[in-house]
Amino acid sequence: MKALLLVLLTEACLASLVPEKEKDPRYWRNQAQQTLKNALKLQQLNTNVAKNIIMFLGDGMGISTVTAARILKGQMQNKKGEESLLEMDKFPYVALSKTYNTDAQVPDSAGTATAYLCGVKANEGTVGVSAAVTRAQCNTTAGNEVTSILRWAKDAGKSVGIVTTTRVNHATPSAAYAHSANRDWYSDNEMPPEAIQHGCKDIAQQLFYNIPNIEVIMGGGRKYMFPKNTSDVEYQNEDRYRGTRLDGKNLIDIWREKKPKDKNARYVWNRSELFSLNLNEVDFLLGLFEPIDMMYELDRNHQTDPSLTEMVQVAIKILQKNPRGFFLLVEGGRIDHGHHEGKAKQALFEAVEMDRAIGEAGNMTSPEDTLTVVTADHSHVFTFGGYTPRGNPIFGLAPMHSDVDKMPFTSILYGNGPGYKIVAGERENVSAVDYAHADYRAQSAVPLRQETHGGEDVAIFAKGPMAHLLHGVHEQNYIPHVMAYASCIGHNTDHCQSGASHSTAEPLPFLFPLISLLLLQFVF
Ligand SMILES: *[C@@H]1O[C@H](CO)[C@@H](O)[C@H](O)[C@H]1NC(C)=O
Ligand SMILES: *[C@@H]1O[C@H](CO)[C@@H](O)[C@H](O)[C@H]1NC(C)=O
Ligand SMILES: *[C@@H]1O[C@H](CO)[C@@H](O)[C@H](O)[C@H]1NC(C)=O
Ligand SMILES: *[C@@H]1O[C@H](CO)[C@@H](O)[C@H](O)[C@H]1NC(C)=O
Ligand SMILES: *[C@@H]1O[C@H](CO)[C@@H](O)[C@H](O)[C@H]1NC(C)=O
Repeated sequence: MKALLLVLLTEACLASLVPEKEKDPRYWRNQAQQTLKNALKLQQLNTNVAKNIIMFLGDGMGISTVTAARILKGQMQNKKGEESLLEMDKFPYVALSKTYNTDAQVPDSAGTATAYLCGVKANEGTVGVSAAVTRAQCNTTAGNEVTSILRWAKDAGKSVGIVTTTRVNHATPSAAYAHSANRDWYSDNEMPPEAIQHGCKDIAQQLFYNIPNIEVIMGGGRKYMFPKNTSDVEYQNEDRYRGTRLDGKNLIDIWREKKPKDKNARYVWNRSELFSLNLNEVDFLLGLFEPIDMMYELDRNHQTDPSLTEMVQVAIKILQKNPRGFFLLVEGGRIDHGHHEGKAKQALFEAVEMDRAIGEAGNMTSPEDTLTVVTADHSHVFTFGGYTPRGNPIFGLAPMHSDVDKMPFTSILYGNGPGYKIVAGERENVSAVDYAHADYRAQSAVPLRQETHGGEDVAIFAKGPMAHLLHGVHEQNYIPHVMAYASCIGHNTDHCQSGASHSTAEPLPFLFPLISLLLLQFVF
């Protein structure tokens, strides 16, 4: 009886595996024909000048992470998940990015940030400097600085912004404004005395000195801005969150003092204050919501910390006031941290949140004048497999047991990392473990305190003016060259007409009379 019930149940489950509409071949043919129609429309290239550029950088968001985040997002909407679309999936152009650093096959976030922001590949651990700089050797820096697309945009009169879920002086954002032989030089407290003696500056300080008047800066990192031992405004009794600066500077005061007196510059450290601002009247915004990195989205305090989507919304509202447009760098910075900890659920919820921010940015801008690029710096040794059936919970088990140790396994696994676990001489039996918990560490093949990056290519998704230039397998440092070309900033602007409209999209109206004339001549 029990066995029969099991068989019946299994059959019922299998039957519902395939949605009814998908059994009809017309469903798939219609779906493909619609996709074909959309693809044919892409023959009309968007060659407008990109007034605005938005770059979304999912730190550690390899392709396996994108696919798993897509399934998760679908399952959060009570769908099976595989068929659903992320916001980034809707972008018309996709390319691959080769992520290696000049000295590393499997790269880190600093060398890669230099590539996709400054257009030059660099060594692991270095930001905003060429490969002539050796990591952590201050005396190799001078003369080898390279500038970023944020600087090029600023020089062209655009407004610029940085939004991240990590500290604002972390590897990704820092390549936009700093030049440092070591990504770890967050404040002078983290620098060797000899580097300070040789004139190298900590990254937090460079944020406020290098590029004057970045309009929007939001993320974490408060403790690097205050003199050593200053207690944190939000965590007054926690020693690890006290100020770190040995030079005694208060960088928030310095930020404010450097702003033109007739402009409104606002510093906020919590979400309610952020939302009390009248953004029409804010010219410069500095929001530092945590002493170090921001919380994972799943652990976020909704009173004190904004979501990534909310920060993006605020940033665009401020930046959009500039008639010459803007450049905005948005980092989903803790996808990477979730993976390093072996906590796939944290990583994937971070990716889903960044995708929501991509949707919000899409709602607030138009692909007619805004180039949006979504990519990652590098991948992770994160995988999911095990012949899971359609709609299998993304954090669930594979439908089989190991044919060697006879135990079940989760679909999600890591190549290495802290999830490696041996119990009584054997791989842990996960049946009795809460593997869907936010902080569950998925099993890995090799024990490591920190799971590592992966070396395979990552995706580049693009929409808007000149997005079609991202179309193949590219070196990562190609990306900012495309963004700059599209918006007529930086070194290569010969294709941009001077004058008010400076639009390459306009030749048609000029050409039409000419072509008509030629045709008429031909006819008569
Ligand atoms: C640069 O500094 C390193 C130590 O960081 C030292 O070993 C090296 O000799 C220095 N090179 C020069 C040219 O001063
Ligand atoms: C740090 O600050 C606390 C309280 O503000 C004070 O009690 C302590 O003596 C200070 N420590 C140092 C090393 O200055
Ligand atoms: C937010 O910051 C403001 C200004 O410091 C403060 O008055 C307010 O109490 C803070 N709100 C929360 C929820 O922490
Ligand atoms: C974007 O706009 C659509 C339509 O108004 C809405 O359904 C969607 O929730 C918006 N997306 C975000 C992320 O706000
Ligand atoms: C794994 O654990 C489950 C329940 O906790 C148990 O039924 C099963 O026999 C175990 N498998 C092995 C191979 O030990």
